[in-house]
Amino acid sequence: MLIDLIRANRSYRRFDETHKVTKEQLLDMIEHARLSASAANLQNLKFYLSCDEQTNALVYSQLSWAGYLRYWDGPVPGERPPAYVLVLAPVSTSKYHMLDVGIASQSILLAATEAGLGGCMIASIKKRYHTP
Ligand SMILES: Cc1cc2nc3c(=O)[nH]c(=O)nc-3n(C[C@H](O)[C@H](O)[C@H](O)COP(=O)(O)O)c2cc1C
Repeated sequence: MLIDLIRANRSYRRFDETHKVTKEQLLDMIEHARLSASAANLQNLKFYLSCDEQTNALVYSQLSWAGYLRYWDGPVPGERPPAYVLVLAPVSTSKYHMLDVGIASQSILLAATEAGLGGCMIASIKKRYHTP
């Protein structure tokens, strides 16, 4: 039942880093996003997949975890995510791009949950904003 999948899809922030997530598994997740709705059917989003140690470390260094838990700095080595899906939206093409990002991200996380994995949406990233 969909409701069970939604219940199981909590925000996980500590992981078994030795559990490998393959590129094929990530591709299956973004297939769920690809088939999800997008404003005006523009299908503008791009996805960047990371499941190797070096790229994972680079992605991790740009993330902020549960800012409201001030006593916790995020997962320590060994319990960091073994994979990431970066959801990228070109700012200039649709005023609804953030809705598209939300829908795609939920589809990805539900697919991950169905595959027996867990994840967390992270919007708090150390990025430089592009101002059009
Ligand atoms: C749009 C969005 C952005 C989020 N950004 C972050 C984030 O930057 N860091 C983080 O640790 N959690 C982030 N979360 C996870 C929420 O904090 C989490 O969904 C909320 O605490 C509820 O917990 P639950 O999903 O386990 O029910 C984000 C969730 C959403 C929907």
